[in-house]
Amino acid sequence: MTQPLLAGAPFVATHNHDLYLEGVQLADLAKEHGTPLFVYSKAAMLSALAAYQRGFAGRKARICYAMKANASLAVLQVFAQAGCGFDIVSGGELDRVIAAGGDPAKVIFSGVGKTRAEMRKALAAGIACFNVESEAELDVLNEVAQSMGQRAPISIRVNPNVDAKTHPYISTGLKGNKFGVAHERALATYQRAASLPGLHVTGIDCHIGSQITESTPYLDAMDRVLDLVQAIEAAGIAIHHIDFGGGLGINYNGDTPPAADALWAQLLAKLDARGYGQRQLMIEPGRSLVGNAGVCLTEVLYLKPGEQKNFCIVDAAMNDLPRPAMYEAFHQIVPVSARTGETITYDVVGPVCESGDWLGRERPLTVQSGDLLAVLSTGAYCMAMASNYNTRGRAPEVLVDGDKAHLIRRRETVADQMAGESLVR
Ligand code: LLP
Repeated sequence: MTQPLLAGAPFVATHNHDLYLEGVQLADLAKEHGTPLFVYSKAAMLSALAAYQRGFAGRKARICYAMKANASLAVLQVFAQAGCGFDIVSGGELDRVIAAGGDPAKVIFSGVGKTRAEMRKALAAGIACFNVESEAELDVLNEVAQSMGQRAPISIRVNPNVDAKTHPYISTGLKGNKFGVAHERALATYQRAASLPGLHVTGIDCHIGSQITESTPYLDAMDRVLDLVQAIEAAGIAIHHIDFGGGLGINYNGDTPPAADALWAQLLAKLDARGYGQRQLMIEPGRSLVGNAGVCLTEVLYLKPGEQKNFCIVDAAMNDLPRPAMYEAFHQIVPVSARTGETITYDVVGPVCESGDWLGRERPLTVQSGDLLAVLSTGAYCMAMASNYNTRGRAPEVLVDGDKAHLIRRRETVADQMAGESLVR
């Protein structure tokens, strides 16, 4: 009997007590490639994308995958082949888009600290738009574009000052955040941008945070942005596209974010009511396209019972899965093959020498050392934030497509890690 484990991750399922991703048995992949191991479902990514595509049917809309969520080349390739653009935040990400076969003309460039070199690279590649985050950045971009005999297409990221009601580290649309131009300064900043010969104003954008599980912050932000569009156009500056950023949450632990198509039905109703429904729209989703498409497989190394706590020590750690340590994030952890026996409550921890190196707290598990566990919902902001802390090589990645499994990144070796280093001679 096949049973999905998590409402948001329908492509992860148990079949006769064994865990599968699409048609591939996860225990087989762990045997072949070792652990820790990331495994992604192509069907899950495309089905998450399809919800947005349904939501935008009949509209002028471009979906720019926020590749910071998972920038592995084969993942980018899936979205490039599906016609997506990309939201980038560095020159390196632009190189990855091009290497994966993406179209630079569908790239938008976000981020508060773009360097001149990155601006030059993006202008030379002919990207669609720079999402400018400060007045100082406007001046530098103007200078760089003029020195190249170009006009840089820009939108200004406005900070709508709404509470996305998410973790403070991933909330970005409040006044105290470093992101965007304050709502009150936005009109003056647009007027300045329109006066600069190296810039060409094309749109407006906002992004209020990540792992947002309610519609209200989006609807409020949209009202604030549309008020600005009205004021900016009344001042004679045309806004061709409206970019609402990313941020839609996923189900990690019974979270109930709106589905992408349902959210966009609400947002489009508002856009229509205010007369902007036929504008070119852009969005920058990251987590909601890949988060529930991935699992991380890890082996139980040791069980360590204690007076206050029982520890289940596994071979994945905070360098592979940094979200619990950084945001106290919750990921479901389930056995890859069910076994019978006593169920004990464990803190699931990694081998890194830090008390912050935990993957899950107080988890009831029926396990023995040598068993495999799957950490769910790890397609977004896991591999992309992985590090080499404790000289641990980054895990390999496999992309599953139906009953086929493709190794898309091999395990990083210690030689890889030391390749750029040298002793003092
Ligand atoms: N656009 C901009 C300008 C952003 O800053 C972000 C994410 C996105 C789009 C995509 O947001 P998403 O759809 O993925 O929520 N490492 C954190 C999340 C950091 C998000 C940063 N910005 C985590 O693991 O929860």
